[in-house]
Amino acid sequence: MDLTFSDEEKMIIELAREFAEKELRPIAHEIDVEKRVPIEVLRKMQEVGLLGLMIPEEYDGAGVSTACYVQVIEELARVCAAVAIVLSVHNSVGAYPILRFGSDEQRKNYLPRLASDWIGAFCLSEAASGSDASALELRATKDGDSYVLNGAKLWVTNGSIANLYLVLAKTADIPDRPHRGISAFLVERDTPGITVGKLEDKMGLRASDTAEIHFQDCRVPASALVGEEGIGFKIAMQALDNGRIGVGSQAVGIAQGALEEAVAYAKERVAFGRPIADHQAIQFMIADMETEISAARSLVRRAAWRKDAGLSHGKEAAMAKLYASEMSHRVVHRALQVHGGAGYTKEYAIERYYRDQRVTEIYEGTSEMQRIVIGRAVLSE
Ligand code: CAA
Repeated sequence: MDLTFSDEEKMIIELAREFAEKELRPIAHEIDVEKRVPIEVLRKMQEVGLLGLMIPEEYDGAGVSTACYVQVIEELARVCAAVAIVLSVHNSVGAYPILRFGSDEQRKNYLPRLASDWIGAFCLSEAASGSDASALELRATKDGDSYVLNGAKLWVTNGSIANLYLVLAKTADIPDRPHRGISAFLVERDTPGITVGKLEDKMGLRASDTAEIHFQDCRVPASALVGEEGIGFKIAMQALDNGRIGVGSQAVGIAQGALEEAVAYAKERVAFGRPIADHQAIQFMIADMETEISAARSLVRRAAWRKDAGLSHGKEAAMAKLYASEMSHRVVHRALQVHGGAGYTKEYAIERYYRDQRVTEIYEGTSEMQRIVIGRAVLSE
C-alpha cells in the first residue's frame, strides 16, 4: 500500500488542518449549542477549494485521491465533526454517484456547481426503510418525458442546505427482488413539490442539519434519471461504500481530537500531588487510545487506497467504518473518564466529542449492517 501524496495534496491536507484550527475551533462549541449550520464557514471552504475535493479538475474540483480526502476529513473532524460530515456527504454520496454513474450532460451540469457553490445530499432512508434500504416506498411514476415523485425521505444530512438531492425512488414493483425496482434521480432543491420538513433535534453533530424531505407531485424531467431504471440500489450501495470510508475517517478524527483533549487535561490536572498524566492508570488509557486510533487509521487508509487503485473496496470500507466508529466510542469514553467530573460538563470540549461520536456507529449503515456486508463478503470469497 503506497500512500504518497502529491505536493498539491500535501498542501491541501495542511490547509485543512490550518482551516480547522483557525475557522472551526473558535466556533465549534457555539455552533453546537446554537444548533446552527455555519454556512459562512462552508462558503469559505468552497472559496479555498476544500468542499469539492473529490470532484475532478476537469469539472473545476480539486480532484484529490480518496487517500488525501480521508486525511482532510480527519483533520476537520478532529476539531468539528459536524462540519466534517457536511463535506463527507457532499463529496461521497452527493457528487461521487454523478461522477460514477451520471451521463456526460449530468456531470457537466452538476459537478462544476457542486465544486463551487452548491451542496449535495443523499435521500435514501424513509420512515419504514433504514437498514433495509430496498424496502423504500417513495415512488417515481413515469409520465411522458418526465417522472413524478411522491413520498418522504428521512435522516437527510445537509437536507435543508442542499441545492441538489440524489433521490432513490421506486419505479417498479418486483416482489421477490424489490431492489431491482429502485432508480436514482437528481432533483434540484427548487423543483416545485419539494418541502423541507422537520429538522431532527439530535444528541450530537448539532451543527449539521438532518432533515425530512417531502416530495409531493414533484415533476422532474426524464433526464434526471441517473443511469437507467432499476440500478438505483446499486448506485446507493456504491455511494455508501464510498461514504463509509468518509465516516471511518470522521470517527478517527473525533477520536484523535478526544485523545488530544485528554492529554492536555491530564498534564494540567493535579491529583495526589502531581499531574494525573504522571499516574500509570492515565498513561495506560492514553496508550490504549493512541494504539487503537492508529489501527483504525490504517484500516481507513487501506480502504481509501484500494478505491484509488481501482480495487474492490466495499468490504474494506465496511471494516474501516465498523472498527473506526466502535474504536472512537471506546476512545471518547476513556477521554471523558480522564477528565473526571469536568468532562461531564459543557465547559470542556470532550462532552461534545462524546455526543458527536455516537452516530458514527449508526449512520451510513449501523455496525450491524457493516457486519453483514463484511460477513457476506468473507463467505463469498
Ligand atoms: N455495490 C454494488 N452492488 C451491490 C452492493 C455494492 N456494495 N451491495 C449489494 N449490491 C447488489 C447485490 O449484488 C445485489 O444485486 P442483484 O441484483 O444482482 O441481486 C443487490 O445489490 C442486493 O444485494 P443484497 O441482497 O445484499 O441486499 P440486501 O437487501 O440484503 O441489503 C445491506 C444489503 C448491506 C443490508 C444494505 O441494505 C445496506 O447497506 N443497508 C444499510 C443502508 C444504509 O447504510 N443506510 C443509511 C443511509 S443514508 C444515511 O445514513 C444518512 C445520510 O445522509 C448520510
